[in-house]
Amino acid sequence: MRVFKGEVTSLPPDKSISHRAALIGALSEGTTEITNFSAGFDNQSTLGVLKDAGISLRQELVEGEAGRIVRNVVIESKGFWSFLPPSAPLMCNNSGSTMRMFSGILAAQPFASELVGDASLMKRPMKRVAEPLRLMGADLGLSEGGTAPIRIRGTKELKPIRYRLPVPSAQVKSLVAFAALHADGESRIVEPLRSRDHTELMLGLETLDVDGERHIVIPGRKTIPAKPFYIPADPSAACFIVALGLLASGSEILIRDVCLNPTRAGFLDILSGAGGAIEIENRRVIGGEAIGDILVRGSGDLQPLLINDPELIACVIDEIPMLAVLSAFATGSFELHNAAELRTKESDRIDALAVNLQRLGFACEQYPDGFMVKGRLSMPSGSVVIESFDDHRIAMSFAIAARATGCEMDITDIGVVGVSFPNFFGLLATLEV
Ligand code: S3P
Repeated sequence: MRVFKGEVTSLPPDKSISHRAALIGALSEGTTEITNFSAGFDNQSTLGVLKDAGISLRQELVEGEAGRIVRNVVIESKGFWSFLPPSAPLMCNNSGSTMRMFSGILAAQPFASELVGDASLMKRPMKRVAEPLRLMGADLGLSEGGTAPIRIRGTKELKPIRYRLPVPSAQVKSLVAFAALHADGESRIVEPLRSRDHTELMLGLETLDVDGERHIVIPGRKTIPAKPFYIPADPSAACFIVALGLLASGSEILIRDVCLNPTRAGFLDILSGAGGAIEIENRRVIGGEAIGDILVRGSGDLQPLLINDPELIACVIDEIPMLAVLSAFATGSFELHNAAELRTKESDRIDALAVNLQRLGFACEQYPDGFMVKGRLSMPSGSVVIESFDDHRIAMSFAIAARATGCEMDITDIGVVGVSFPNFFGLLATLEV
């Protein structure tokens, strides 16, 4: 195992909060200033579709603390109905968040629009988008298989809705909330399993606990005055660096200013529970989001991971690839159940993980909703081809294992890391001892 040391101050700004800051800025009245917006391709796709739908925005690179270059975004809008009919289909590239969340806004606009994406996004499920928006009165068309292109004929007369989320998806919750902001009356979203709550926090929505379920109350047609947003570092990106630090004893990495929202930081609890030496320092709250510094020390004695609690899974869904690869390399074992949603991400992540771990000599068994790693049968000789399936999190999870263990891997389409973590390899290089 290799040793990594250092302090990380340039982790990508959070992808989920960046998307929402841009979309909420476009819905707000006035000038929205977003500090530390992500350069990741997905977040740039959100800015792209907003511009193509008539929103006026600009990006600025400014020098921040210790000479670090920070990307800020300034959005000027007159509120809910500032959008213009796009002249061509809106290209969301690889970004499911862009496509789904923007659909909620387009459903309320009095014009027709169409959302498209790259090959991976055009295969992902979109019935979960169309169903609530149709109930609210918008006209949405999907492919026969229930995928994009999403063709939307929006209406200014959206009806309020009471909607119980059929899947624990923060994207679906957010798109319903965005549509409901435009509706003529109060809406309610019922969330049986908790998912990331940035949208509620950023919009200041009231939430209630009713018989163990979370209800989110959305007032209709209430003007949103523009306010500034600060984007903390992305915990899902931090997870890769934490895994790097944990894999090798002697490593010590401090990761600054990370979003520690409890709906995002479940992976830290899982890893601490398995014996990982992780400390949180400098805890504070900015804009309603918990933030802190993560200090990770590699001790080399992690316990195998078993992940099966549906509520916890909703809060670590993006971290499972790294947790699985880390657990396989550190302990030879990993077990996941109740995670069928993982098959609908940028790739079928259950299959992608199992197939690649098998190539690396691990014994794996897949289930419809998970998989299991049952020890290592052989050590590869020479370089192993790892199929990224054009999925940033699959590519980075295996790249971390390769860097930490010295196992040679040839990862296909490695540039896909730019979807969420453009400086991934540059940052790793600064941590090598
Ligand atoms: C996200 C929600 C999750 C997550 C995705 C980002 C969000 O997707 O996997 O990377 O920002 O709301 P689902 O809503 O499909 O669970």
